[in-house]
Amino acid sequence: MPYMKYMSNVREIVKRILSWGSPEKYVRKLHESKKYLEAYSEHTDSRITTEPHNAIGGSWEEMGKLQFDFLVKRGLRPHHTLLDVGCGTLRGGRHFIKYLNAGNYTGFDISPKAIEYGRKLVEEERLTDKIPVLFVSEEKNLKFEELRGKTFDFLLAQSVLTHLPPESIEELFENIGKVMKEKSSFYFTYFDGERYKHFSIEDFRYPFSHLESLAKEHGFSVKDYSNEYPHPIGQKMIEVVRHGAGL
Ligand SMILES: C[S@@+](CC[C@H](N)C(=O)[O-])C[C@H]1O[C@@H](n2cnc3c(N)ncnc32)[C@H](O)[C@@H]1O
Repeated sequence: MPYMKYMSNVREIVKRILSWGSPEKYVRKLHESKKYLEAYSEHTDSRITTEPHNAIGGSWEEMGKLQFDFLVKRGLRPHHTLLDVGCGTLRGGRHFIKYLNAGNYTGFDISPKAIEYGRKLVEEERLTDKIPVLFVSEEKNLKFEELRGKTFDFLLAQSVLTHLPPESIEELFENIGKVMKEKSSFYFTYFDGERYKHFSIEDFRYPFSHLESLAKEHGFSVKDYSNEYPHPIGQKMIEVVRHGAGL
């Protein structure tokens, strides 16, 4: 690791420990002092400086390939357009960008450092000619206003709803239709549970029935594809389509 980068990592870790004590205390304090998504993005930002792969969940190669292979199996082809909601540091994005035709990949995230890392990665992996659209969601909401009426064939939120509180999930279902075509498929993963549970500072479980009824309320049907998605820690994979669009 180059000296300057090493020193900047050391500074970041020392800053965190000096300000809050232990890393766990730092995250707790962050969440006590800010709104959930602001605290979450600041936490992700701080980790990306030192551990860009683990900050978005780790298993870099395995999880990148899993999401890519799954969408290709579900029909993703180079001419399709894809919206990667909460694209992080492009664990899956790097595979999609390489595969899709130029201009067909769009990824956004609430973490500015994730997008900064993603842009550098695109250069390092010589993918700039694929002209991926990468942007920071400044408002940190799921209203898709930055996309100004653009629609996509495929949409993906891998390991995103697992970290979202109920109000963000509702906002997502309220607005996802704006960026979907008549026959689009939106795939997302979540942690399943018999009851809603906020089980650690940044992790949530939801019952399938809750997600299904939210989807129905907004004119969608859902289908469970978890049997075709061997996620290493058991996240479930769901497809959302417009009601009557072919499930
Ligand atoms: C666990 S990471 C997964 C990243 C990526 N999907 C992957 O599989 O590598 C979750 C990402 O979702 C982002 N995120 C969470 N809530 C978001 C929101 N409301 N809008 C956009 N991004 C969000 C986080 O900043 C983080 O980068």
